[in-house]
Amino acid sequence: MYTILLAGAGNIGSRHLQGAKKSANDLDIWVYDLSEDALALSRERFEQIPENGVKQTHYVNALDDVPRHIDVAIVATGSKPRAAIVRQILDSREVKYMVLEKFLFGRVAEYAETKALLDQKGVKAWVNCPYRMFEGYKHLKGMLDAQAPLSVSFGNGGNWGLCCNAIHYIDIFLYLTGQEDYSVDLSGLENEVLDSKRPGYVELIGDLTVTTPRGDKLTLQTSKDGEFIQKIHMKNGAHAIEIDEAAGTITFDRNVFPLDFAFQSGLTGRLIDSLVESGTCDLSSFDKSSHYHIQFLTAVLPFINKIKGWSTDSCPIT
Ligand SMILES: NC(=O)c1ccc[n+]([C@@H]2O[C@H](COP(=O)([O-])OP(=O)(O)OC[C@H]3O[C@@H](n4cnc5c(N)ncnc54)[C@H](O)[C@@H]3O)[C@@H](O)[C@H]2O)c1
Repeated sequence: MYTILLAGAGNIGSRHLQGAKKSANDLDIWVYDLSEDALALSRERFEQIPENGVKQTHYVNALDDVPRHIDVAIVATGSKPRAAIVRQILDSREVKYMVLEKFLFGRVAEYAETKALLDQKGVKAWVNCPYRMFEGYKHLKGMLDAQAPLSVSFGNGGNWGLCCNAIHYIDIFLYLTGQEDYSVDLSGLENEVLDSKRPGYVELIGDLTVTTPRGDKLTLQTSKDGEFIQKIHMKNGAHAIEIDEAAGTITFDRNVFPLDFAFQSGLTGRLIDSLVESGTCDLSSFDKSSHYHIQFLTAVLPFINKIKGWSTDSCPIT
């Protein structure tokens, strides 16, 4: 039996919990949230999933109630309290593996502080940008011409959460291109900062472009209105690729194969199994993802500060 801690049992946390129920292993799951409503929602969603082996659950609003040894800790709060919660957990518990939600942290200093803590405690950690878990992307990577730059565009219309979701597309773009460094062009964004659907966080609209030193390019677009078309278009040398997230397909030239798209409730069981059985998983490691996050954060923070008239070192991206 493995001990799982889920810290933050809101929208995505409750989906992690549903996913955990699909694990092939016996689990003792501790769901921790300050909000009784979130705990109730999580309990309700957990019960919607069919019984599957031994899955004990405990819903608590104090970390003190959680066992001392934890095999896998998933931190699914918003980004603002995340670093403090990681510290709170690691200062008082022995954790083997940790999975942190994106957007990792809003303050640049929190990346180095958390890395030092994870290293000091010997905890292996990853960040949940889950496209890397989709078999379709693994297959696609093998088909790409690695010598030719990749050009990717996503999103026209619909306010799909450019600012908080860009890191998902950056993560998979860097996976496919094999690149680590990029620059961000914000000149196509509107000079407006919107409230996010998550209270206390912000959103951006317009075009955002990411380029790598070897000429790969990712363009993300969003607008306030219009229909959101969930398709990603790519060009790579002579190849044209279309990923239809809604249909769950990848079309590579004329060859169609499954994307293997899954919601979080279809992924967390596999993620836990991979961690406890092999000690690793397909997600970007904490170090790698921190590097991706910091490059985005250092570009976007001054942009938001300027529009808002703020001088903070903390960026409310969730
Ligand atoms: N990886 C993905 O695909 C994906 C998808 C959706 C959301 N997310 C990310 O997950 C995070 C959470 O998003 P959400 O929509 O679930 O938000 P949410 O507000 O629904 O849930 C956050 C939960 O954290 C709890 N919380 C806050 N501070 C806490 C503390 N100190 N101790 C314990 N619990 C605490 C809140 O009570 C709340 O229930 C965000 O950063 C978001 O960007 C990731």
